Amino acid sequence: MQSKTATLRIDDKEIALPVMIGTEGEKAVDARKLRQDTGYIFYDQGYGNTGSCESAVTYLDGDNGILRHRGYPIEQLAEHSEFVETAYLVIYGELPTQEQRKNFGNLLRENAHVETQMQRLFEGFPKDAPPMAILSSLVGALAAYYPQLATNNFEKDLQQFDLAAAIAISKIRTLGAMIYRHTRGLPFMHPKDLPFCDNFLHLMFSEPYQEYVSIPEVTQALNLILLMHSDHEQNCSTSTVRMVGSSGANLFTSLAAGVNALSGPLHGGANVAVMQMLQSIHDEGDDGTRFIAAAKSGSKGNRLMGFGHAVYKNFDPRARVIGKACGVVLNKLGKSDPLLDIAQNLEQAALKDDYFISRKLYPNVDFYSGIIFRALGIPTNMFTVMFAIGRSPGWIANWREVASNAKGRIYRPRQIFVGSPKRDYVPMAKRS
Ligand code: CMC
Repeated sequence: MQSKTATLRIDDKEIALPVMIGTEGEKAVDARKLRQDTGYIFYDQGYGNTGSCESAVTYLDGDNGILRHRGYPIEQLAEHSEFVETAYLVIYGELPTQEQRKNFGNLLRENAHVETQMQRLFEGFPKDAPPMAILSSLVGALAAYYPQLATNNFEKDLQQFDLAAAIAISKIRTLGAMIYRHTRGLPFMHPKDLPFCDNFLHLMFSEPYQEYVSIPEVTQALNLILLMHSDHEQNCSTSTVRMVGSSGANLFTSLAAGVNALSGPLHGGANVAVMQMLQSIHDEGDDGTRFIAAAKSGSKGNRLMGFGHAVYKNFDPRARVIGKACGVVLNKLGKSDPLLDIAQNLEQAALKDDYFISRKLYPNVDFYSGIIFRALGIPTNMFTVMFAIGRSPGWIANWREVASNAKGRIYRPRQIFVGSPKRDYVPMAKRS
């Protein structure tokens, strides 16, 4: 992928840095030898201008609102695919044949259960524990229950990778439903011989005395929303998974780190924060003016949740699809939600406001996803767990790229030290 070079003049020295061009024309200056040749590093707080890897999974063009998984536009996947098929595509790079799809589905089904011993871990968690805290602990614990798969070297036995990936996707889904039931004091349900999303709804909503009956519209909406979360290039949690994986850590351990990164309110936790914001606007009978005014103060704690994106400086294509789907899903389910009207009004108000226009702040994936989760009966504190279920294929695909890269190095950024220069130790008695 290297063609021309870029010239950097520094300290009266000229050095040539190779230029890299990606398959969609993305340009980068390869700075790997910069420090060795000049003593300088590039300073890029938050890595907004740093390519940390080459990846073939997802292409994202934030200026033009483009998102493609393995080349396929997200809009086409949203229209024609379903979560499990897209998960296969994201992980393995190609849309599955009928047989591959069937085998993958079977592997997910066979690995849907959570071991009895592992179920007992729930007893140690308080009922009011944050769902993401339980999820990250249990995803990490998978390494203890599958020690034979707790490796970063699957190259000799690729079937073992297939198994580890299926365990991760299927059990993160089952654990998510179990967390919901645990926090409500409800008995766990056993997975059944059902498609992925129907099984999730059964695990969540069946009762020992009454089976959950699948509603096609609900299953379809769940499929869509999980698919929309399936991958998103080098976001905070995916980069975390890659970073942890680069140390040689196994898949489950790396995924647990990803779950933790996702939990933050600026990342996956934003879907909870959006819902809380919409609910407050509703309860206060406000029109959102207070939130918009507060967001314009520039304080991080007052941001308009569900707005803005580190990479999209245009509409987030996922927000377009999910925003449109909200009305359709509510319609199909014969429901209405006052929070949808509030969200739409808030969006209109923000999009007319100079503060948001000049900073190119548009609704992101989290702005409307909660409306769909709510329509499906999923409580607000479970929203980020739903994001994690959806994002698991992307994390796995990225972890695999790291683990299978024979030339990969451990992720180890540098820093500009701004602390005290060298000083000598002062004995306690002489300290003022
Ligand atoms: N409300 C108000 N102001 C904002 C917002 C917002 N939601 N987002 C960014 N800004 C301001 C920011 O303060 C900065 O202002 P100034 O130029 O005056 O200093 C300007 O807009 C540019 O910000 P940025 O550099 O583009 O933002 P960032 O890359 O540091 O942060 C973000 C990206 C997503 C963390 C941020 O937009 C945010 O906090 N949004 C709200 C939380 C949210 O919805 N997160 C979900 C992201 S999408 C799902 C995911 O990938 O996890």
